[in-house]
Amino acid sequence: MKSYITTPIYYVNGSPHIGHAFTSVMADILKRNRKALGYELMLSTGVDEHGQKNQEAAADLGMPVEEFLDMRGKEFRDVFDRLDVAYDYFVRTSRDGHKEAVAGMEQAIFDKDLIVKKNYTGTYCKGCEEFKKESDLTEEGQCPLHPTMQVEQTEETNYFLKMEPFRERLLQHIADNPDWVQPEAFRNELKQMLAEPLEDLCISRPKTRVTLGIELPFDQDFVTYVWFDALANYLTNVDWPNHGYETWWAECEHLIGKDILKPHGVYWPIMLMAAGLPLPKKLSVHSHWVGAGGVKMSKSIGNVVDPIEVIEKLGVDALRWYLARHMRADSDSQISVDLITQAYNSELGNKIGNLLSRAAKFSKARFDGKLPASGPLSAEDEAIRKAVVEATQGMGAWINLAEIPARMQSIITIADEMNNYFAEQAPWDLIKNEETKERCQTVIYVTLDCLRIVMEALTQVIPASAGKALAMLNAPEVACPWTPELDKLQGDSELGEIETLYPRVQ
Ligand code: MSP
Repeated sequence: MKSYITTPIYYVNGSPHIGHAFTSVMADILKRNRKALGYELMLSTGVDEHGQKNQEAAADLGMPVEEFLDMRGKEFRDVFDRLDVAYDYFVRTSRDGHKEAVAGMEQAIFDKDLIVKKNYTGTYCKGCEEFKKESDLTEEGQCPLHPTMQVEQTEETNYFLKMEPFRERLLQHIADNPDWVQPEAFRNELKQMLAEPLEDLCISRPKTRVTLGIELPFDQDFVTYVWFDALANYLTNVDWPNHGYETWWAECEHLIGKDILKPHGVYWPIMLMAAGLPLPKKLSVHSHWVGAGGVKMSKSIGNVVDPIEVIEKLGVDALRWYLARHMRADSDSQISVDLITQAYNSELGNKIGNLLSRAAKFSKARFDGKLPASGPLSAEDEAIRKAVVEATQGMGAWINLAEIPARMQSIITIADEMNNYFAEQAPWDLIKNEETKERCQTVIYVTLDCLRIVMEALTQVIPASAGKALAMLNAPEVACPWTPELDKLQGDSELGEIETLYPRVQ
């Protein structure tokens, strides 16, 4: 069983931001989830190094292009490492093998007479790296996605991929595969994009304007359009066209933001059809993060959330937790350092970390550094154990991108119930009498064994701190395939060193 998850590859014209961190962390969570089910995984993330925008960014810094790309590539890789994103492949489109494969794909499509050369006059948005129709622009004639950038009038001879011959087939594919694009709102948006005849797609740029790109195999005066080259990464990462890529490609799921639905839902499938290749298995689309109060993040407002600043202030798991718990696939969600801090303190700190440290410290202090063995179970013990298994079961099943927050919600709900159980059983009273001491042992065992299950489930989301918690509990290695199973802690065993997992931050 294989699963191949991709993130978009990110433009390197600026430093990594929260949008980049987000998709790569979600991809990592899905990877860890599927690994826990016993799948073999391939996760790719990385950088999109070509195109006019990147070329101009290097020039603005007065840096030689290669040096600039190396610097930015390292910066992105370092951020993903700090975010605990366990990518299997870090994409750089400047890699030789990728360039050759892209040129091969273009030549194959060219040989089928699906690429034509013609003169074109149009409006170009550098932010999108796309030609725009008048209907795509605002009343002021600007790109709605890049309102601070000026669109440019361009008249050029270029190469174009014929799109219209494939439109009906693509619509049919969407109709035959209702889950191909998720959530539904974006499937409908895509159908809308395909409702009208498609214009040919410009797939080249003259070298007089853009040099940072892959030369067209059939015309040395042009480089490949950056989107054509970038989309092909999904194939070249698994070594297409060499034998062996097929089994990965058949299981490929793209995670993308809503703003890049058109390239992934229209251009890419048509490129693949033109090349005679199968389509990816799925497009999982997410909405965007906006600042507190629903205001778009911008440097001038000062509400931009920098992933590295958050990691330094609160730790990586505070950020991963917030992104997983508060994202919504089909609507924008708010983010700010304050919101992340609140969720960290009240959810991870008060509900999970606190219970773990209270119960484990109590156990160590009262039972000679050990976890006591359980005695007979009461109805309350049975009830909480059953509820914990039910609440975490979802993490032992396949998760889709849109379902991540609901799974986190059920973990927080069960953490509340565990806190209630602990407070009601009041082990600090039970320890006072010899007759209730055994009952106290059972309550501690039940609480810590339930926490172990929660922490095992959370290794898919916040691996660093969940791993520490399991070490404190001296828990056995997490089973694979994973399902929530009771009684895996050994009664009468030593506990590890207990540290505060989520120290409170103001
Ligand atoms: N290079 C192209 C993608 C090529 S994939 C073959 C690109 N790069 S990007 O750096 O501009 O953006 C990549 C991703 O970041 C997109 O999925 C976009 O949706 C996401 N985000 C940018 N801002 C975002 C938020 N504020 N919130 C969530 N994601 C956001 O496009």
